[in-house]
Amino acid sequence: MNIFDIPRWCFRILLTGIVLVGLCQGLAAQQAGSASAAVVKASPADVYRPTVLPDRIVLTWSDDPATTQSVTWRTSTEVVQGLAEITIADAGPTFDQAATRSVAVTESLTTDLSTAHYHSVTFTGLTPKTLYAYRVGDGKNWSEWFQFRTAASTPDPFSFIYFGDAQNDLRSKWSRVVREAWRTAPKAAFMIHAGDLINRAESDQEWGEWFGAGAWMNAMVPNLPIPGNHEQARMSGETSGLSHHWRPSFTLPMNGPAGLEESCFTLVYQGVRLIGMNSNEKHAEQAAWLDKVLTENTEKWVICTFHHPIFSTAKLRDNRELREIWKPILDKHRVDLVLQGHDHTYGRTGLETPVATANLSTGFNTKDAFSGTVYVVSVSGPKMYNVQRSPFMPRVAEDTQLYQIIHLDGDRLSYEAYTATGELYDAFLLTHHADGSRTLTEQVPDTPERLRPPVLKEPEKKASEALK
Ligand SMILES: [Fe+2]
Repeated sequence: MNIFDIPRWCFRILLTGIVLVGLCQGLAAQQAGSASAAVVKASPADVYRPTVLPDRIVLTWSDDPATTQSVTWRTSTEVVQGLAEITIADAGPTFDQAATRSVAVTESLTTDLSTAHYHSVTFTGLTPKTLYAYRVGDGKNWSEWFQFRTAASTPDPFSFIYFGDAQNDLRSKWSRVVREAWRTAPKAAFMIHAGDLINRAESDQEWGEWFGAGAWMNAMVPNLPIPGNHEQARMSGETSGLSHHWRPSFTLPMNGPAGLEESCFTLVYQGVRLIGMNSNEKHAEQAAWLDKVLTENTEKWVICTFHHPIFSTAKLRDNRELREIWKPILDKHRVDLVLQGHDHTYGRTGLETPVATANLSTGFNTKDAFSGTVYVVSVSGPKMYNVQRSPFMPRVAEDTQLYQIIHLDGDRLSYEAYTATGELYDAFLLTHHADGSRTLTEQVPDTPERLRPPVLKEPEKKASEALK
């Protein structure tokens, strides 16, 4: 049979079918078009709206990490009384039957998006080196049960994580760094944030993004944040001060100078003296406080963190006043390690730090290995500056998001910096000796430094092109 043998009615049916299919496709495309036109960007007020369910749950310390643990969380204002329950963790599912309950301290915070209640509880009387389970809520609405381990009451090996500025694109591009850090060191004892957690001090959305990036890790691994210049908010009149979010969001020690409660503090974790300072203000008061804390200190290791670097790693930046006021105290007490941010680049000194007061060294105090301090600047978020390499910096980086894992074990401090993709970028070993001296063993991996291609001036560009 050939095509001319097909009856005419068959052609009609076929033609009608083709027309119907075309009409249906057109209608479907039209509906898809109108559906995509209906998609709108979610409003921050909706995304970060507080509810009766706890969110922004974060562990911090306000007292001894061996026997206490603080937790802070947020709810809608309908929750007028926050509650927390805690018990020693057990592998059996009925562990919660032995839980005891505490009533939270609750405060209200009105932000650019909403008004919320922030609740905090400090669990006390805990047993050192013990795994606990806890949850927070209001009696009807509860978080999941989280677990944390108290510190040992004496020196004991541990690791912790340190982040430079997170600050920008927190949900989009910082989250991968905090999560990769956790994957590298899931048993980390705590996370240090050296300031500029967010970009706009009073932006509830940015705080929501910061808490969202750390997510449940914040509820299981304690945080030690200190404020950067981006946590400074404009207060009434012309003065500036700590973001209104800071103190409701975190429950931190109140043992710093007056006026710097929860932004300048010290605590001891398993034989290590940790000191967080607020480099935005009251430099002289903090210098006197630091001198007193370190004069009374009996711990072998001292690690400080503050935002503005003693030695800048970014072009055209220098914190001379801070260096002149704080470095003599750090030198006097032979602080081991200073962890900083602010310069959106990576760089660190060796053990023998410059004696000169200028950012660019004119000499090293190599004669006195007893007084050296290792200063680190790092960045974890995506905002990047041009690096300024000083001759006393064995490793620097540009355009690189990083996190650092620091291990302490007796007389040894092992430092590792990793890129956001989990590759070791920098390392050293710091050792305390019986005579009181210290040595630094460089362990910089044999990989190229990550630096931007140099920007050539016009005559150099022409000469370079002529060589091609
Ligand atoms: Fe910053």
